[in-house]
Amino acid sequence: MQLKWFSITLVWILSLTTALAQPGARTIKSFDNDWLFYLGDDSLARNVNYNAGSWRSLNLPHDWSIEGAFDEKNATTQAEGGLPAGIGWYRKIFTLPAALKDKNFFINFDGVYRNSEVWINGHYLGKRPNGYISFQYNLTPYLQFGGSNVIAVKVDNSGQPNSRWYSGSGIYRHVWMTSTGKSYIPEGGAFIKTADVSGNRAIINFQTQVMVNEDNLRLKASIYTASGELVNSIITSVGNGDTLATVSQNIIVGHPNLWSIDHPYLYKVVLQLLSGKQVVDNEQHTLGIRYFNFDVQRGFFLNGESVKIKGVCLHHDEGALGAAVNTRAMERQLQILKDMGCNAIRTSHNPPAPEFLDLCDRMGFIVMDEAFDMWEKKKNKHDYHEDFKKWHKRDLEDQVKRDRNHPSVFLWSIGNEIREQFDSTGITIARELVSIVKKLDNTRPVTSALSESDPKKNFIYQSGALDLVGLNYHQEVYANFPKNYPNQKFIATETMSALETRGFYDTPTDTTRHWPHSSKEKFAKGNPEVAVTAYDNVAAYWGTTHEETWKIIKKYDFLSGLFVWTGFDYIGEPVPYAWPARSSYYGIVDLAGFPKDVYYMYQSEWTDKPVLHLLPHWNHNPGETIDVWAYYSQADEVELFLNGQSLGTRAKQNDDLHVSWKVPYQPGTLKAISRKSGRIIKTEEIYTAGPPAQIKLDVDRASIKADGRDLSYITVSVLDKNGHVVSNADNLIQFNITGPGVMAGVDNGSPTSMEPFKASQHKAFHGLCLAIVQAKQNAGIITLTAQAEGMPKTKVIIRAR
Ligand code: GAL
Repeated sequence: MQLKWFSITLVWILSLTTALAQPGARTIKSFDNDWLFYLGDDSLARNVNYNAGSWRSLNLPHDWSIEGAFDEKNATTQAEGGLPAGIGWYRKIFTLPAALKDKNFFINFDGVYRNSEVWINGHYLGKRPNGYISFQYNLTPYLQFGGSNVIAVKVDNSGQPNSRWYSGSGIYRHVWMTSTGKSYIPEGGAFIKTADVSGNRAIINFQTQVMVNEDNLRLKASIYTASGELVNSIITSVGNGDTLATVSQNIIVGHPNLWSIDHPYLYKVVLQLLSGKQVVDNEQHTLGIRYFNFDVQRGFFLNGESVKIKGVCLHHDEGALGAAVNTRAMERQLQILKDMGCNAIRTSHNPPAPEFLDLCDRMGFIVMDEAFDMWEKKKNKHDYHEDFKKWHKRDLEDQVKRDRNHPSVFLWSIGNEIREQFDSTGITIARELVSIVKKLDNTRPVTSALSESDPKKNFIYQSGALDLVGLNYHQEVYANFPKNYPNQKFIATETMSALETRGFYDTPTDTTRHWPHSSKEKFAKGNPEVAVTAYDNVAAYWGTTHEETWKIIKKYDFLSGLFVWTGFDYIGEPVPYAWPARSSYYGIVDLAGFPKDVYYMYQSEWTDKPVLHLLPHWNHNPGETIDVWAYYSQADEVELFLNGQSLGTRAKQNDDLHVSWKVPYQPGTLKAISRKSGRIIKTEEIYTAGPPAQIKLDVDRASIKADGRDLSYITVSVLDKNGHVVSNADNLIQFNITGPGVMAGVDNGSPTSMEPFKASQHKAFHGLCLAIVQAKQNAGIITLTAQAEGMPKTKVIIRAR
């Protein structure tokens, strides 16, 4: 993985100053700021002398869809979230000093959705249809040194529908400008792999391509510890006369500090291309030394230890921020999942932002890195099937080359529920895709997320090319997997599709409902609230409740693990409802990042933390009988009390994952106590709340970086006069910011709200609302004030440093 300048620690910089400060060395600079943007089409905008004076100025990453209004009449479908798409243009003018004329310059786009076309100084550089792939252009021959240059980018997301979820539109990931010496290491040209770990040492193998434009080059590879001490280095001559040479080198690391989920240790790697003593190019990477294998009988092993894969699928949107990449937003999502005990992510159904994989490396997640949601056969009229034939090889190669140095990546997926499963073209295409991957990376298994669970009917499986059978749903076949798929390795690539609305409850809770009920029913009848109960007992007809599938996966060692659909709610695909539903109900966590109750079921199963969580809330109609559930762990039993009266003690039996009581409702306090061998482990209380009386603001981080990007997430709770959350509160909250901060987005996790995400007000939903404050580039004190009718103003302070 290529390190960006801002993520390099100080120690690292200091210890490597000498190595990197040499003239001619590579620079990678952010190219995000000071673009002009026009929403609409104007083909003249590619020309150098075009007057873009009236365009809007902005910094990237940018997603124009998220700035728009939800509307059933937009060209995007309900499955895509119903936000606007269309065509947009971006331009940026920049200068380069004459002194740099002997250097090479490249522009890197981490991701543009979709159909981007790029011009430099009026010269056409090319097109990339795929909206999730990172790509690079060489600008060198067309640049003006000592003068000004203009980049123009057209983004065309007008061919609709083209996705089954919210995609966003625009240059929604970062852009970089890289300069190198005459000779250089091409993009993705270095593959650093752990060739062997045994005894007390690891062998690290480097395969580095070099674009040779001068004689007598040498390549130096060095490995440093996380704190910057040199472990070892090697210098090798690069063959003269080649244009593209490949250099193979080995470095031995004694007593390696292994990378794992609990201890994600990262070494630093520096590659230096030397001409005499001068560094003409250099790259920095991180290196995680680890080994793993899948076993037919015993599942997944990391560094020789058995690990159950407890994963979730994630789409790429960051809720109210849309697709516009923000590292802190992704880090927060991963922290919430890590606290739940999640150890794996499937980047469904596309390559993620590079920063996402950096975070997984650093935080200890293993990643299934997925390439495609369709091949030649379409899922939507204008989706990537139109481009697959021409682009699949290039896109897949670019993905593997970009991501193969990440220790977190442990599995490639060549596709999700691909239609070619059902006919013989699946055989040829699967073989071709797997061979593209293996040529560039022979260290990781390749799978595909299959929805046809009959091995005899599945042509992708029949190709024999997959290292691992990835099954989506079809939990009914898991127990017999060894019989039906002799000698095959298993992973549940997608499971559950259970449905919940945070904070909404209805009964009965002891039967499972399927919404929609079958393929004959498009939308569920559901309820007038367009909500789904948050007791874990509703799922799409192809899925199960959370408890049902986890019980199976947990039971058998040969089931290496699972990816739950999904970790977070995402915009689009609001199964089971018709409009105005516009975002998903599948998340364990809602769109705003507030956990639904089932989060605590996972936490009780996937961590060693003592968990005690009660549901539902305690505001009901007198005379009702309420099903009360408790998730708990690290305890033998739970006793429930209503207003001090014991309602009995329950303990999970057999494979139970929760306990429950039927409670005749009375207002007051519901209290649970968990005990182990008679000792109290945890106590949890919920209360009948009175009318909304006050607002509480909780910041996730009270101090953020004044870098124009960092975020503070503020949870707004609507409380009664005694400080208890009002479970049905939907008050309109008005925000005001003073100091060096801006409102990046507002949300409340409701899948049906038509309120915009870019606003300074938002309604609460089941008592909660979210404000996302972003730092500007100057330090100071940011004050966020929140107010709602009939309640006092409340403020919170965030320091931007
Ligand atoms: C799966 C599909 C996912 C998502 C999910 C919803 O079949 O792979 O992308 O659509 O269904 O349940």
